[in-house]
Amino acid sequence: MEIVKVSASKEYTVNIGKGFLDTVGDKIKEIKRVCRVVLISDDNVFPLYGEKVKNSLINSGYSVCEYVVPHGEESKSFENYENILEFCAENSITRTDLFVALGGGVVGDLTGFVASTYLRGVDFVQIPTTVLAMVDSSVGGKTAINLKAGKNLCGAFYQPIAVFADCDTLKTLSESTFNEGCAEIIKYGMILDKDFLAFLQENEIKENIEYTIKRCVEIKRDVVCHDEFEKGERKLLNFGHTIGHAIEKCSNLTISHGNAVAIGMVIATKGAYEVGMSEEDFSDVILPILEKNNLPTTCDFSADELYKASLSDKKRSFDTISLIVPEELGLCKIMKLPVEDLQNFIEKGMN
Ligand SMILES: NC(=O)c1ccc[n+]([C@@H]2O[C@H](COP(=O)([O-])OP(=O)(O)OC[C@H]3O[C@@H](n4cnc5c(N)ncnc54)[C@H](O)[C@@H]3O)[C@@H](O)[C@H]2O)c1
Repeated sequence: MEIVKVSASKEYTVNIGKGFLDTVGDKIKEIKRVCRVVLISDDNVFPLYGEKVKNSLINSGYSVCEYVVPHGEESKSFENYENILEFCAENSITRTDLFVALGGGVVGDLTGFVASTYLRGVDFVQIPTTVLAMVDSSVGGKTAINLKAGKNLCGAFYQPIAVFADCDTLKTLSESTFNEGCAEIIKYGMILDKDFLAFLQENEIKENIEYTIKRCVEIKRDVVCHDEFEKGERKLLNFGHTIGHAIEKCSNLTISHGNAVAIGMVIATKGAYEVGMSEEDFSDVILPILEKNNLPTTCDFSADELYKASLSDKKRSFDTISLIVPEELGLCKIMKLPVEDLQNFIEKGMN
């Protein structure tokens, strides 16, 4: 088992390994005394791993009630959030109990937000089951649900008390969902680690999954520990995300987060070079890595559509928007762009 320690407002470990789901209850017991557990999952993941995790928790002495949401981005909704809170209240869940998120980023973000607000904060554990959730969403404490105006517009910074990533769960992922997580992996190489980027150019992610997840978690840990509340450096993790979120929004969430981020990184890389924010055009480097991992690099929306959809982005202040752009290979920088220049940036990035 690989263990990465995170020292943020809470100290916790990210445990990366294989084949330990049926003993995860004992591992949780090392950090949380026996209590009631609300196990939250979705209707794809629960039938695959729910009973295993539930039995493991029960065998370790916990009592468990489960709440299963439909799979998909629509589940990060106010309605589900409210229903889960009511479910917890009806089941007399107390502040000393525990939430466990079993699933991808959707389940993790939703559960984390419930945990951050129910009774003003209850401990929660992440058991991520997608590549994206293992390398990104389960670590660092960003939790959220979506509003009609845009993704993740209602949320909280709230760290889990532990993360348990069992790579065996990735075997049941569809090829496309696996690949979508690779977009965030490639992001880490582009923003902060030239050597890791070179590793991704030369190696297959699937064949090196434990090392790859560990390296991504370490990079994210280092960023989050310096800037947990995203005052500065943490914004680097949003490389490709401003335009990516606009793509998700324009597609009515039919384009997945990972695919949208892949396209967003290409537009940000090309656009930055074309408008003079980057000295070199690094799209030559990122495009082949994305293509090798079967990720899309273009979309059918116009620059105008993407620009309008970007305006509700959280990284926008009154008249500027923060964009993450490559400075050199394996190093990105945060640049502020006047909002009125964003459309031109996107247009140049799409050519
Ligand atoms: N909090 C953060 O820091 C952060 C970072 C990045 C992304 N996100 C969020 O994460 C979400 C995307 O996460 P995701 O890509 O994991 O999507 P997801 O949670 O929707 O999972 C993708 C699909 O895979 C299925 N699935 C999950 N695990 C499976 C398994 N082991 N076997 C078979 N099927 C499985 C799910 O049911 C779903 O249909 C977005 O909402 C995004 O905003 C959050």
